[in-house]
Amino acid sequence: MDLINTKIILKKRPDPEINESLFDLVDEKIRDLKENEFLIEVHYLSVDPAMRGWISKVGNYSEPVKINGTMRSLGVGKIIASKNNAFLVDEYVVGWLGWQKYSIVDRNHIQIKVNPNDVPISANLGVLGLNGITAYAGLVDKCKPLKGETVVVTTAAGSVGSAVGQIAKIYGSKTIGLTSTDKKKSICIDDFNFDKVINYNSTKDISSCLKKIAPDGVDCFFDNVGGEQFDHIMENLNIGGRVVICGTIGMQSFPIPNGPRINRTLLVKRAKIEGLLVLDYFDKYSEIYQKLYNWYKEGKLKNKEDISFGLETAPTSLVNILKGTNLGKQLVKV
Ligand SMILES: NC(=O)c1ccc[n+]([C@@H]2O[C@H](COP(=O)([O-])OP(=O)(O)OC[C@H]3O[C@@H](n4cnc5c(N)ncnc54)[C@H](OP(=O)(O)O)[C@@H]3O)[C@@H](O)[C@H]2O)c1
Repeated sequence: MDLINTKIILKKRPDPEINESLFDLVDEKIRDLKENEFLIEVHYLSVDPAMRGWISKVGNYSEPVKINGTMRSLGVGKIIASKNNAFLVDEYVVGWLGWQKYSIVDRNHIQIKVNPNDVPISANLGVLGLNGITAYAGLVDKCKPLKGETVVVTTAAGSVGSAVGQIAKIYGSKTIGLTSTDKKKSICIDDFNFDKVINYNSTKDISSCLKKIAPDGVDCFFDNVGGEQFDHIMENLNIGGRVVICGTIGMQSFPIPNGPRINRTLLVKRAKIEGLLVLDYFDKYSEIYQKLYNWYKEGKLKNKEDISFGLETAPTSLVNILKGTNLGKQLVKV
């Protein structure tokens, strides 16, 4: 093939800081396709907090990205050549495409085919993608919110958090979000219809603040942050409370900091706490996608994006999401 690919490789691992110098931009000639493979022209790439774990030397739930390997990422793009009868030229797919302009894949890399004339293709990486599916799995499948209950979510203005808030509303719950700035607080209220939002940087005592705005306590707690925010919200948990641990972006990975023991809280409140990994739900991807898609089409789910332009901006976008400066789903337009 005469095409030249440009890709971003992982040059070295964080020690512990994550910055642009960990990555390199590399050109290479695209090889010929093997049987069952297809070539994708990548249009949008996803930038995710989980990348912090993927590039560290200690793998978490998946193998670390190899040194000099293409950075792992979900993406959406158009098939431009194919040796697979089930994936045809001009079809659009979402899958593990990597931080690169062109991606050679087989069906094991693909989550779903999408129609580019239906919803904006980038939405398939946000509220209709991994983030929406994470929100649905953690909230609906694990927390099981009921009408009138109070749902609290951290990183409320972000991609997963805003989807959690909106889905909780669909289930008739009262929604409370936590975020870092007044601008994000307004986004939560104006765009995502949260009932109440706490700017955790402008309150000294999150627990008391939450007690004031949710005097009846917290029934479902969807946590993306860990650390002090987690500790404060747990103090407000109701009897029979359900807590899902989705992310720990506010905690350093190693060494894991100590915190209050929650044994007695769980005992006294007869509460349930559970970890969530969206990959466990990938066999239900199409089923959950369809639910999110219907709500999106009915105007019940909004998708906010923060797009950087050009493949070379991906490392800076990762740095930004870990600093929390993103306003919506962080994407790269290739
Ligand atoms: N378990 C799973 O399968 C799964 C799947 C997808 C995502 N997740 C998790 O879901 C969470 C949100 O992911 P997302 O893709 O939707 O990203 P996002 O919320 O759009 O962006 C990340 C947000 O994290 C917050 N943040 C960044 N650094 C922080 C810090 N040091 N302390 C506290 N908050 C910080 C910032 O929000 P504020 O400014 O509002 O604090 C930032 O905007 C992450 O923890 C991620 O790991 C888990």
